[in-house]
Amino acid sequence: MVKILGIAGSPRQNGNTSLLLEEALKGARAAGATVNKIVVCNREINPCLGCGWCRRSGACQQEDAMEKIYGLTLSSHGIILAAPVYFNSLNAQTKALVDRHQCIWARKEILKEEITDPDTRHARRGLFLSTAGADDPHAFDGAIKVVDSFFRLLDIEYYHRLLFFRMGERGAVRNHPTAMRDAYSAGEQLVAEISRSLGDTRS
Ligand SMILES: Cc1cc2nc3c(=O)[nH]c(=O)nc-3n(C[C@H](O)[C@H](O)[C@H](O)COP(=O)(O)O)c2cc1C
Repeated sequence: MVKILGIAGSPRQNGNTSLLLEEALKGARAAGATVNKIVVCNREINPCLGCGWCRRSGACQQEDAMEKIYGLTLSSHGIILAAPVYFNSLNAQTKALVDRHQCIWARKEILKEEITDPDTRHARRGLFLSTAGADDPHAFDGAIKVVDSFFRLLDIEYYHRLLFFRMGERGAVRNHPTAMRDAYSAGEQLVAEISRSLGDTRS
Protein backbone atom coordinates (compact mmCIF):
# COMPACT_ATOMS: atom_id res chain seq x y z
CA MET A 1 0.00 0.00 0.00
CA VAL A 2 1.40 3.38 -1.01
CA LYS A 3 1.62 5.82 1.91
CA ILE A 4 1.28 9.52 1.17
CA LEU A 5 1.92 12.39 3.58
CA GLY A 6 0.27 15.75 2.89
CA ILE A 7 1.77 18.79 4.60
CA ALA A 8 -0.51 21.84 4.72
CA GLY A 9 1.92 24.64 5.43
CA SER A 10 -0.13 27.82 5.18
CA PRO A 11 -1.47 29.65 8.22
CA ARG A 12 -4.48 30.70 6.08
CA GLN A 13 -7.34 28.24 6.59
CA ASN A 14 -8.99 27.20 3.31
CA GLY A 15 -6.41 29.24 1.45
CA ASN A 16 -5.01 28.49 -1.97
CA THR A 17 -2.40 25.92 -1.07
CA SER A 18 -4.77 24.12 1.33
CA LEU A 19 -7.35 23.83 -1.43
CA LEU A 20 -4.76 22.47 -3.85
CA LEU A 21 -3.56 19.98 -1.25
CA GLU A 22 -7.09 18.71 -0.64
CA GLU A 23 -7.51 18.04 -4.36
CA ALA A 24 -4.15 16.30 -4.62
CA LEU A 25 -4.97 14.11 -1.62
CA LYS A 26 -8.35 13.22 -3.16
CA GLY A 27 -6.48 12.13 -6.28
CA ALA A 28 -4.01 10.13 -4.18
CA ARG A 29 -6.83 8.34 -2.31
CA ALA A 30 -8.63 7.61 -5.58
CA ALA A 31 -5.42 5.99 -6.82
CA GLY A 32 -5.47 3.67 -3.78
CA ALA A 33 -3.03 5.36 -1.36
CA THR A 34 -3.40 5.69 2.39
CA VAL A 35 -3.08 9.33 3.32
CA ASN A 36 -1.87 11.19 6.40
CA LYS A 37 -2.13 14.95 6.63
CA ILE A 38 -0.32 17.43 8.86
CA VAL A 39 -1.72 20.93 9.25
CA VAL A 40 1.48 22.67 10.28
CA CYS A 41 -0.17 25.59 12.09
CA ASN A 42 -2.19 23.23 14.30
CA ARG A 43 0.98 21.58 15.61
CA GLU A 44 3.54 22.84 18.04
CA ILE A 45 6.67 23.10 15.92
CA ASN A 46 9.43 25.22 17.38
CA PRO A 47 12.17 26.66 15.19
CA CYS A 48 15.59 25.00 15.14
CA LEU A 49 17.85 26.45 17.86
CA GLY A 50 21.09 25.60 16.07
CA CYS A 51 22.43 24.09 19.31
CA GLY A 52 24.30 21.33 17.50
CA TRP A 53 23.07 18.61 19.89
CA CYS A 54 21.89 16.53 16.93
CA ARG A 55 25.36 16.43 15.41
CA ARG A 56 26.39 13.90 18.04
CA SER A 57 23.07 12.26 18.91
CA GLY A 58 21.19 12.35 15.61
CA ALA A 59 18.15 13.51 17.58
CA CYS A 60 16.63 16.86 18.45
CA GLN A 61 16.48 17.75 22.10
CA GLN A 62 13.33 19.83 21.72
CA GLU A 63 10.17 17.96 22.69
CA ASP A 64 7.28 18.97 20.46
CA ALA A 65 5.19 17.70 17.54
CA MET A 66 8.27 17.03 15.42
CA GLU A 67 8.95 13.75 17.22
CA LYS A 68 5.95 12.19 15.42
CA ILE A 69 6.49 14.12 12.17
CA TYR A 70 9.95 12.61 11.58
CA GLY A 71 8.35 9.16 11.52
CA LEU A 72 5.92 10.29 8.83
CA THR A 73 8.37 12.16 6.60
CA LEU A 74 10.79 9.21 6.68
CA SER A 75 8.31 6.35 6.26
CA SER A 76 5.83 7.75 3.70
CA HIS A 77 6.54 6.80 0.09
CA GLY A 78 5.32 10.16 -1.17
CA ILE A 79 5.25 13.65 0.33
CA ILE A 80 2.99 16.41 -0.92
CA LEU A 81 4.22 19.72 0.46
CA ALA A 82 1.75 22.59 0.03
CA ALA A 83 2.93 26.03 1.11
CA PRO A 84 2.68 29.65 -0.07
CA VAL A 85 5.51 31.98 -1.03
CA TYR A 86 6.29 34.45 1.75
CA PHE A 87 9.05 36.97 1.01
CA ASN A 88 10.42 34.74 -1.74
CA SER A 89 10.73 31.69 0.50
CA LEU A 90 8.37 29.28 2.24
CA ASN A 91 6.17 30.73 4.98
CA ALA A 92 7.84 30.66 8.40
CA GLN A 93 5.85 27.80 9.93
CA THR A 94 6.67 25.50 7.02
CA LYS A 95 10.29 26.61 7.03
CA ALA A 96 10.48 25.73 10.74
CA LEU A 97 9.32 22.19 9.94
CA VAL A 98 11.99 21.98 7.23
CA ASP A 99 14.73 23.41 9.45
CA ARG A 100 13.90 20.96 12.23
CA HIS A 101 15.00 18.18 9.88
CA GLN A 102 18.56 19.25 10.67
CA CYS A 103 18.77 16.23 12.99
CA ILE A 104 17.89 13.98 10.05
CA TRP A 105 20.66 15.72 8.09
CA ALA A 106 23.04 14.94 10.98
CA ARG A 107 21.99 11.28 11.03
CA LYS A 108 22.50 10.98 7.30
CA GLU A 109 25.55 13.14 6.63
CA ILE A 110 27.53 13.07 9.88
CA LEU A 111 26.55 9.80 11.53
CA LYS A 112 26.18 8.03 8.15
CA GLU A 113 22.93 6.31 9.09
CA GLU A 114 20.32 5.00 6.67
CA ILE A 115 17.41 7.37 7.20
CA THR A 116 14.93 5.64 4.87
CA ASP A 117 14.18 2.02 3.96
CA PRO A 118 16.80 0.91 1.41
CA ASP A 119 14.29 -1.48 -0.22
CA THR A 120 11.76 1.22 -1.11
CA ARG A 121 13.96 4.32 -1.25
CA HIS A 122 14.12 4.31 -5.04
CA ALA A 123 10.32 4.72 -5.19
CA ARG A 124 10.14 7.81 -3.00
CA ARG A 125 8.56 10.77 -4.75
CA GLY A 126 7.43 14.29 -3.93
CA LEU A 127 5.04 16.96 -5.07
CA PHE A 128 5.38 20.65 -4.26
CA LEU A 129 2.21 22.74 -4.49
CA SER A 130 2.63 26.49 -4.14
CA THR A 131 0.94 29.79 -4.88
CA ALA A 132 2.21 33.37 -4.95
CA GLY A 133 0.54 36.76 -5.17
CA ALA A 134 2.93 38.44 -7.60
CA ASP A 135 2.44 38.51 -11.36
CA ASP A 136 5.80 36.80 -11.73
CA PRO A 137 6.63 33.15 -12.41
CA HIS A 138 10.01 33.72 -10.70
CA ALA A 139 8.22 34.36 -7.39
CA PHE A 140 8.88 30.67 -6.56
CA ASP A 141 12.63 30.66 -7.17
CA GLY A 142 13.63 30.94 -3.49
CA ALA A 143 11.01 28.47 -2.27
CA ILE A 144 12.06 25.94 -4.90
CA LYS A 145 15.63 25.99 -3.59
CA VAL A 146 14.39 25.21 -0.09
CA VAL A 147 12.16 22.39 -1.33
CA ASP A 148 14.94 20.96 -3.53
CA SER A 149 17.18 20.52 -0.51
CA PHE A 150 14.39 19.30 1.77
CA PHE A 151 13.33 16.56 -0.63
CA ARG A 152 16.92 15.61 -1.43
CA LEU A 153 17.63 15.22 2.28
CA LEU A 154 14.60 12.92 2.53
CA ASP A 155 15.97 10.68 -0.25
CA ILE A 156 13.41 12.00 -2.74
CA GLU A 157 15.32 12.42 -5.97
CA TYR A 158 12.29 13.11 -8.18
CA TYR A 159 9.51 15.53 -7.49
CA HIS A 160 6.88 17.45 -9.40
CA ARG A 161 5.84 21.04 -8.89
CA LEU A 162 2.54 22.79 -9.45
CA LEU A 163 3.01 26.53 -9.05
CA PHE A 164 0.37 29.23 -9.58
CA PHE A 165 1.18 32.93 -9.49
CA ARG A 166 -1.25 35.94 -9.35
CA MET A 167 -2.97 34.15 -6.46
CA GLY A 168 -3.10 36.89 -3.83
CA GLU A 169 -6.74 36.42 -2.78
CA ARG A 170 -7.91 33.57 -0.58
CA GLY A 171 -9.45 30.92 -2.81
CA ALA A 172 -8.16 32.46 -6.06
CA VAL A 173 -7.06 29.00 -7.25
CA ARG A 174 -10.72 28.06 -7.60
CA ASN A 175 -11.03 30.61 -10.42
CA HIS A 176 -8.01 29.28 -12.28
CA PRO A 177 -9.13 27.28 -15.31
CA THR A 178 -7.15 24.11 -14.50
CA ALA A 179 -5.52 24.40 -11.06
CA MET A 180 -7.88 22.19 -9.08
CA ARG A 181 -7.98 19.48 -11.75
CA ASP A 182 -4.20 19.70 -12.15
CA ALA A 183 -3.75 19.14 -8.42
CA TYR A 184 -6.10 16.13 -8.42
CA SER A 185 -4.26 14.57 -11.37
CA ALA A 186 -0.88 15.28 -9.80
CA GLY A 187 -1.97 13.39 -6.66
CA GLU A 188 -3.18 10.44 -8.74
CA GLN A 189 -0.03 10.45 -10.86
CA LEU A 190 2.21 10.58 -7.80
CA VAL A 191 0.68 7.36 -6.45
CA ALA A 192 0.77 5.67 -9.87
CA GLU A 193 4.48 6.46 -10.21
CA ILE A 194 5.29 5.18 -6.74
CA SER A 195 3.25 1.98 -7.26
CA ARG A 196 5.01 1.35 -10.54
CA SER A 197 8.37 1.90 -9.00
CA LEU A 198 7.63 -0.34 -5.98
CA GLY A 199 6.31 -3.01 -8.34
CA ASP A 200 9.46 -2.82 -10.44
CA THR A 201 11.55 -3.99 -7.47
CA ARG A 202 9.43 -7.04 -6.80
CA SER A 203 9.50 -8.33 -10.38
C1 LIG B 1 3.61 37.64 4.81
C2 LIG B 1 3.32 37.42 3.35
C3 LIG B 1 4.37 37.45 2.46
C4 LIG B 1 4.16 37.24 1.10
N1 LIG B 1 5.22 37.28 0.26
C5 LIG B 1 5.03 37.08 -1.06
C6 LIG B 1 6.14 37.13 -1.97
O1 LIG B 1 7.30 37.33 -1.61
N2 LIG B 1 5.89 36.95 -3.30
C7 LIG B 1 4.63 36.72 -3.77
O2 LIG B 1 4.44 36.56 -4.98
N3 LIG B 1 3.56 36.63 -2.92
C8 LIG B 1 3.72 36.80 -1.58
N4 LIG B 1 2.66 36.71 -0.72
C9 LIG B 1 1.33 36.32 -1.24
C10 LIG B 1 1.03 34.83 -1.03
O3 LIG B 1 2.08 34.03 -1.54
C11 LIG B 1 -0.28 34.43 -1.75
O4 LIG B 1 -1.36 35.17 -1.25
C12 LIG B 1 -0.58 32.94 -1.63
O5 LIG B 1 -1.57 32.57 -2.56
C13 LIG B 1 -1.07 32.56 -0.24
O6 LIG B 1 -1.35 31.19 -0.21
P1 LIG B 1 -2.36 30.58 0.87
O7 LIG B 1 -3.73 31.10 0.52
O8 LIG B 1 -2.25 29.12 0.73
O9 LIG B 1 -1.92 31.05 2.22
C14 LIG B 1 2.84 36.94 0.64
C15 LIG B 1 1.79 36.92 1.54
C16 LIG B 1 2.01 37.15 2.88
C17 LIG B 1 0.84 37.10 3.85
